[in-house]
Formats: sequence, structure tokens, C-alpha cells
Amino acid sequence: MDYQQLIEEVYQEVQSENLKGKVADYIPEIANVDPNQFGIALVDLKGNVYGVGDHQVPFSIQSISKVHTLTMVFHRFNSKLWTRVNVEPSGDPFNSIAQLEYEKGIPRNPFINAGALVITDALCSKFENPIDQITDFINELTGESCVKINADVKNSEMAHGERNTALAYFLKSFKNFDNPIDEVLEVYFSHCAMEMSCVDLAKSFSFLANDGYSIFANRQILSESHARRVNAVMLTCGFYDEAGEFAFRVGMPGKSGVGGGVAAVMPHKFSIAVWSPELNEKGNSVKSIRALELLTDKLAFSLF
Ligand code: DON
Repeated sequence: MDYQQLIEEVYQEVQSENLKGKVADYIPEIANVDPNQFGIALVDLKGNVYGVGDHQVPFSIQSISKVHTLTMVFHRFNSKLWTRVNVEPSGDPFNSIAQLEYEKGIPRNPFINAGALVITDALCSKFENPIDQITDFINELTGESCVKINADVKNSEMAHGERNTALAYFLKSFKNFDNPIDEVLEVYFSHCAMEMSCVDLAKSFSFLANDGYSIFANRQILSESHARRVNAVMLTCGFYDEAGEFAFRVGMPGKSGVGGGVAAVMPHKFSIAVWSPELNEKGNSVKSIRALELLTDKLAFSLF
């Protein structure tokens, strides 16, 4: 399979379709990005990198970082954490608070904001300097020092963080939150404000395509069974109330972010990251999803 030719074909086809969406504007600093940027990077299991378009331009990874933070505490799920977060699709928007009340403060899954806040709370219990630990971990996954936190994006979100603050207080009222709310929110907004290119992002997801082993970090990041489970949660919950549609159209475990990025894996074949800032009404990138749909249509193999 000539991956370079494949992603170039996909890139051209998506560009010719002239798809439109809307850049996220509830984080004002993100609304300032050039909406016409579009890039794809694919990394195979040998570490070969293929790229097209704006694949080397760093962008705000936002909720894609929830996969990295989940990975950092995953082994704890075998004990206490699975009692704090579920693994069911929510069918609701990423920042919804509704289910949290009648499900007694246990978020449906680790990728909706409520669940990700619990994961970040667990990270704050585990590490003295969680932000450094998160960036060090992702740098290790890419084999280079590539991650930067965009302070303007972080501050912009902190200044408009009413919804996440409400979720954190709600979790605390159900005793599903151990650390001071401000501390956890700052770590959460910081990891959402990390910037990476499609190339870095695809490298950082490579271990999930490779039974938990990262060829860039040269070590087993998660056991084979835990890596499979992260992929299962991505497939069922990675796109919130659009998870079913993403599975139907694309058929890969993946995770989106409101910066317009999508990272996905084809287990035992490759990891891929696509970025285009314009989003659909569910907060997921229009062109990135279309690109992955075209790509899986053209492949001679599939997950199913
Ligand atoms: O907490 C938020 O609302 C953002 N920092 C992240 C949301 C996000 O990326 C949702 N994904 N599509």
C-alpha cells in the first residue's frame, strides 16, 4: 500500500468538495486560527511518516489530549478508577451536565468533559507536577520535544470556563473529585491547550496501533489488553454524540478535538492524524472526518 499516494488522493478529493463548517468560538483564542488549513499525517508501524498539506503546523489538540491522560492513569482503572468513570457512550454533547445528576456523579465515559475532569483529578492525585508529567509523557511518545502549551488558549478557556467549572463542582458534590477544583481545572485547560502537528499527534498514537508498544519511546506504554480497551473506548465514545456516525462512516477508533484535529488508529497497520479547524454542529472537524471516511473506503483492509 502506497500510503503517501493514498493520503494525497484523499487530500485532493476533500479539497475539491469545498466542505464548510464553523471554527469553535466558545474558546475565543481558537477562533483566530486560519480556517483553511488542512493537513494529514500517517505513521506506519515501522515509524515511516507520510504527510500532506499543513501536516507540520502545530494546532490546539484540545480533547484529543484526553486519550493521553487516560493512558497515563489507565492501570489504575483495574482498581479504583472504573468505579469513578464508566465506559458507555453518552449520546450527549461533550460538555453536557444532564446525565451527571441522575447517574449520581459518575460520568458516562472518560472522553466527555465530566469524565476527562475525573481523569485529570486522578492525575493530580498521582503526580506532584501533573502538567510537566503530561508534556514529558507525550514528548516521549513522539520521540522528540514537540509539545507546547499555548498560554493564550489556556487563559482564554479559563476565562470562559463556566461550564467545566460547573461540572467540576457537580462532581465534587457527589464526592467524585479529590483535589482542589481550581488546581484540576488549570491542569485540564493546560492539557487541552497543548499544540502539536499532525505528524507529532500520529506518532503519539502509534502505540495504540501497535499493541501498546511505542517504537518512538522504545517501550511498552500499555499492556496489549489495556491498549485494546483504550481503542474500544475511542470507537464507542471518541466522538461523543457522533460516535455512532464516525464508526459507521469511518470504522476506526478515533478521538476528536474542537481545535479541528482527529487522531485515529488502524490496529496493526498505522496511526493517523488529520486537522482542519472548521467543525460541524457536534464540535467535530468536517474535513477531517470526511478525509478519514474517504481513506478507509480506499483501503483494501478494515477493522471489521
Ligand atoms: O473543555 C472543553 O470544552 C475543551 N477544552 C475541549 C473540548 C473538545 O475538544 C471537544 N471535542 N471535540
